[in-house]
Amino acid sequence: MSLQNKVAIITGGASGIGFAIARRFVSDGAKVVIADIDDGRGEEAEKELKDIGEAVYVTCDVAEKLDVRNLVASALDAFGDVDILVNNAGIVAGADLLELDEADFDRVLAVNLKGAFLCLQAVARHLVDRVKAGGEPGTIINISSINAVLAIADQVPYSISKGGVNQLTRVSALALAPYGIRVNAIGPGSISTDMLATVLEDEQARDKVLSRTPLGRVGEPREIAAVAAFLASDGASYVTGQTIYADGGRLPLNYFAKEAD
Ligand SMILES: NC(=O)c1ccc[n+]([C@@H]2O[C@H](COP(=O)([O-])OP(=O)(O)OC[C@H]3O[C@@H](n4cnc5c(N)ncnc54)[C@H](O)[C@@H]3O)[C@@H](O)[C@H]2O)c1
Repeated sequence: MSLQNKVAIITGGASGIGFAIARRFVSDGAKVVIADIDDGRGEEAEKELKDIGEAVYVTCDVAEKLDVRNLVASALDAFGDVDILVNNAGIVAGADLLELDEADFDRVLAVNLKGAFLCLQAVARHLVDRVKAGGEPGTIINISSINAVLAIADQVPYSISKGGVNQLTRVSALALAPYGIRVNAIGPGSISTDMLATVLEDEQARDKVLSRTPLGRVGEPREIAAVAAFLASDGASYVTGQTIYADGGRLPLNYFAKEAD
């Protein structure tokens, strides 16, 4: 198994894409620490993962430095090391540009961008110390979005935060390259999770999404997990500073998707 005995922290791992990554990593042999603010789902997720391998749930708001410090300490306590971080926790705040509340702007940036930075910095400090002591480098994966480079008019802080996540990926890949620590990102397109539920339940909105999706369907969380498993593995040993878009062909598309003849 490609992640045998690796220890991975996955933020926002109680549901959606984060949980799919946690399940895939455990199946691939990793020990997983799920960090989330939803204790109910987090504990359920831990239980489910323990049926197939090793996992613990830790309450952690990624926007809070003390929570993040506690998260890394809990991972070291539970499994003795940390090899992989997946910065997946993310939220949206849809609002017209002219109406957007400052508090909503701040919260989205705090979770999606500052939270990713705090977790990355905390885990990177551990990994750099380990490399200096003669150990293995480890790797970091940020969950970005196609909205890092595209934009939705009423998703102002979200689009800004994901643009920032792409730059966080590049700048930290450069800063950590001397230690052999790789940092990459995944930019999902439209994936079937709670975050997209209101869009997918509305037939008209769903048709609009599909008209912009050349593969003609929304993605499944396990399809993002598969990319994360690759980036976390030795198979990606020469890949760093990249964002890989798993988006059903959305980014290359101008105009509308072609229907089958
Ligand atoms: N679903 C999509 O179509 C899609 C597309 C592109 C990118 N993404 C990104 O993928 C990631 C996961 O999204 P998802 O669709 O699985 O969403 P989701 O809402 O299903 O899951 C997000 C998880 O993050 C947790 N979370 C929220 N705030 C947190 C915080 N402050 N600290 C810790 N955990 C927190 C939630 O409790 C939840 O378990 C996000 O970064 C999102 O921006 C999703």
